[in-house]
Amino acid sequence: MALRSPLVVGSSGLTRTAEGVRRCAEAGAGAVVLKSIFEEAIAHEVQAALDAGMDSFVHPEAMDYVKSLSRDNEVGNYLRLIADAKKGADIPVVASVHCVSASAWPDFAKQVQDAGADALELNAFVLPADGTRDSAAIEKVYLDMAAAVREKVRIPVAMKLSCHLTSIPHTAMALDRAGIRSLTLFNRFFVNDIDIEKLALKRGGFLSSPEEYLLPMRWMSLLHGRLSCDLAASTGVHSASSAIKLLLAGATVVQVVSALYRNELSFLSTMNAELAAWMDRQQLATIEAFRGHLSQKASGNPAAFERVQFMKFSVGME
Ligand SMILES: Cc1cc2nc3c(=O)[nH]c(=O)nc-3n(C[C@H](O)[C@H](O)[C@H](O)COP(=O)(O)O)c2cc1C
Repeated sequence: MALRSPLVVGSSGLTRTAEGVRRCAEAGAGAVVLKSIFEEAIAHEVQAALDAGMDSFVHPEAMDYVKSLSRDNEVGNYLRLIADAKKGADIPVVASVHCVSASAWPDFAKQVQDAGADALELNAFVLPADGTRDSAAIEKVYLDMAAAVREKVRIPVAMKLSCHLTSIPHTAMALDRAGIRSLTLFNRFFVNDIDIEKLALKRGGFLSSPEEYLLPMRWMSLLHGRLSCDLAASTGVHSASSAIKLLLAGATVVQVVSALYRNELSFLSTMNAELAAWMDRQQLATIEAFRGHLSQKASGNPAAFERVQFMKFSVGME
């Protein structure tokens, strides 16, 4: 896809309506990823999924939510959202499905394509909380999803992964071979916190903080040039400088969400302007001219990218 900006508004409440998408386009987004629809809302098979043991993979509250959805409306509304978003905005619109299996729902991918979506992002997450499946079995769930969806559509299929994988490169390479056209690294999930006065669980923060881009940046730099698919960085992009760093590390595009909640949507145009000013200062005419320049593959010091222990760097910090 040719994008007018490498800044993409990630899947969130900001992209839940056609009006939201129009506003993102107006603010300068290169593309948007729509709010995810739940696999279960598509499949109408919540009970079957429970019977198949999927409940051990899904947070109980998520299952309650899913059971309460009015499913027919969800699907019809989502397809209308795609069509309306396309009509109201002149940028690529990526649909998104939150999925935990390859069963029952992938036919929906064809409907997404027919509704006019430019691509489909699979927001795939299996929380392996019960310890009964090993990492290969969990990776296979992602691969099965990729294969099932790929065979239904010709639009590009992206997969959004969590960082909780035993080997991110192994999974990334397998998905690349399976025909996934872009990997979004990483999703960020709802987390619980604890209230120590009430001795009870409380909601953790929804929004990321600015230093969180360092995690996707490491993996952008390690994966750039090793896959044929694109890489979309997600999590912790709160400024033009973190977006630039992710592009230098090898990201094809950079997704932004929390920064747009913390600021205004117009923050996107500030980020675009700062990116353009930086490129002028560096005399770089295109994003391609610097993308991946600080990836591990392009670097003269590949070992630096695999350093994980503090060792001598922490001397003096005691
Ligand atoms: C309010 C909110 C709703 C979100 N909804 C979705 C969603 O439906 N699907 C999805 O894949 N990610 C969803 N996300 C995750 C974001 O797309 C993104 O991956 C995450 O927030 C990390 O990026 P950030 O640091 O720029 O916020 C949501 C995030 C927020 C804050």
